[in-house]
Amino acid sequence: MLVHAINNAAYEFASDVRVGLTRSGQKELPSKYLYDDVGSALFEVISHLPEYGLTRADERLLQSHADEIVERLDAPVAVAELGSGSGKKTRWILEALGRWQRTFYYPVEISRSALAMCERELSDIDSLSIVGFEREYLDGLLEVAAHRQRNQHLFVMFLGSTIGNFDRAAGVKFLAEIRHILQPGDSLLLGTDLEKPAEQLLKAYNDEIGVTAAFNLNLLARINRELDGNFDLRQFEHTSKINREARSVEMHLVSKRRQIVRIPASDLRIEFQEGETIWTESSHKYQPEEVFQMAKNAGFSCEAQWIDEQWPFAENLLIAE
Ligand code: AVJ
Repeated sequence: MLVHAINNAAYEFASDVRVGLTRSGQKELPSKYLYDDVGSALFEVISHLPEYGLTRADERLLQSHADEIVERLDAPVAVAELGSGSGKKTRWILEALGRWQRTFYYPVEISRSALAMCERELSDIDSLSIVGFEREYLDGLLEVAAHRQRNQHLFVMFLGSTIGNFDRAAGVKFLAEIRHILQPGDSLLLGTDLEKPAEQLLKAYNDEIGVTAAFNLNLLARINRELDGNFDLRQFEHTSKINREARSVEMHLVSKRRQIVRIPASDLRIEFQEGETIWTESSHKYQPEEVFQMAKNAGFSCEAQWIDEQWPFAENLLIAE
């Protein structure tokens, strides 16, 4: 008999897949599972695609306003970043801080390879110590907060509009959870992608050369690899669609025909109808003004906002009240 050593993370993945695929109505999978080593590498490629201007807008803002941002912080600060990815766009902030202080930087990442990339990318910055946490966001942040020194403020970065993966209510709840870990005067730099025309969004999330499709389909491949599933990837197709009510763009995987899929580790046998979809991600888009209210509802005040004109995107500096 073959005994599978199931660790905690694998167990959680198996049970989240089970819950998501057995829901009555719309099947869904949590978007955080898009980011294994393959998915994180594919997202890195997406960030270079002409159709997907989000990451470049984020980086442009950080590069041009790093000094202004840093000057508004109550020094000295320790820096935590939730979902650092490659760490590339964080460089500007860390370099600006380095002109004032010796800095501890704590990237919190669920992808081990992204964390390793980030540590490599930023290792040349003077007067910087990097301590990475391979953890979920709030677990990681709790740990960072536990290590803070008494005179130190925490400066948390949550960039790239990752908040957009939550629906609006859950987004505010998540911000409030961050706020609970912080102390008054601590700060949060929040990146939010702004509303833009539907055609532009549909292309951004369904690029011509199919990288986003590969990124999305990799979730099924991951289920096959880690949970012993038998998804036939050729029988599913990536699509992006606008949800006007939610003001979001969604990624789905469409079943090309009626089919049955087995996922032994989740104890599942699932039927798909032709045209039925699995909803894998939402990216909510914001109006600049609504961020102020979101911040307020979560116990912060939004002290400054910088907007990129080329690709509407806002960097928001929130201070814990
Ligand atoms: C990394 C969550 C910000 O929602 O735009 C990119 C992920 N999905 N293309 C986003 C993503 C499809 C991205 N975030």
